[in-house]
Amino acid sequence: LKKGNGVKGLSEMGLDSLPEQYIQPLEERMCDTITMSQEFVPLIDISKWDDPGVAEAICEAAEKWGFFQIINHGVPIEVLENVKEATHLFFGLSAEEKRKYLKEFSPSNNVRFGTSFSPEAEKALEWKDYLSLLYVSEDEASALWPSVCRDQVLEYMKRSEIVVRKLLDVLMKNLNVTEIDETKESLLMGSKRINLNYYPICPNPELTVGVGRHSDVSTLTVLLQDDIGGLYVRGNNDSWIHVPPVNGSIVINVGDALQIMSNGRYKSIEHRVIANGSNTRISVPIFINPGPSEKISPFPEVLASGEKAVYKEVLYSDYVKHFFQKAHDGKTTIEFAE
Ligand code: SIN
Ligand code: FE2
Repeated sequence: LKKGNGVKGLSEMGLDSLPEQYIQPLEERMCDTITMSQEFVPLIDISKWDDPGVAEAICEAAEKWGFFQIINHGVPIEVLENVKEATHLFFGLSAEEKRKYLKEFSPSNNVRFGTSFSPEAEKALEWKDYLSLLYVSEDEASALWPSVCRDQVLEYMKRSEIVVRKLLDVLMKNLNVTEIDETKESLLMGSKRINLNYYPICPNPELTVGVGRHSDVSTLTVLLQDDIGGLYVRGNNDSWIHVPPVNGSIVINVGDALQIMSNGRYKSIEHRVIANGSNTRISVPIFINPGPSEKISPFPEVLASGEKAVYKEVLYSDYVKHFFQKAHDGKTTIEFAE
């Protein structure tokens, strides 16, 4: 990483074997002892918003699976293709270009190129590079985001926000939260971050991970993946469910913040990404988060019928800080709110 080329740089050196820092403990690897589920997370055609079956399917998926894929969502396929291409363009930049966005050189904390997850906190590193962009305003993005991917990313964010609003509307109605006013908007989606993830070809994929076990700290995550595959979600009885690439689809998952606000009704599910020995994979998650100064706790509407609050109130910026202080170690951040 000193040269600013991350794991991609290592991969391109043509290593015969995985450097030691990336060797994960046995229990973190996707090895033979792991149970693969034959189930699939729901695939929901959301073209007909007025059809009550659509709302029902979305809420059921959020309650039971925490993960689902949507198709016919209204974000043009071209917009999705452009953002995937832009991701390859960014990581294809020279090391000199990319190093400008490393933590120590980046002109802003809101734009960061990095590798692994929290290298300082991790015993073993993850086989992944990323560009993380906190969205503040279009003007800031114009000034600070890398120009090879800026317009494509902004367009994708703008288009997918329409879908996010509709999804949140449906999920809120189901909790008797009827109107998303300005206060609720800041609580549910007061801050947005987009990551461009790059998982290079790995010499010993069975010994490491692309991303270790975690649950997202978001309200909702909108995830675009390419056609390589490798994302696994925790299923029943300790099994792992593959989320297969589906042409034109977007993966949606519930994050910890929504689990807390729904008092556990909607589930934030543990997931991980394997490393791949023959293909580079990319993914582009948009994290729809509460505003950092929001205090999150179960909605009064959910508790109205006398239900006991499972979570206490936490300041969202503290919650996020807690998440980044630890290595990926499963779905553990939520204990902070218990
Ligand atoms: C993540 O959950 O951190 C990444 C998901 C993916 O790359 O598919
Ligand atoms: Fe995630």
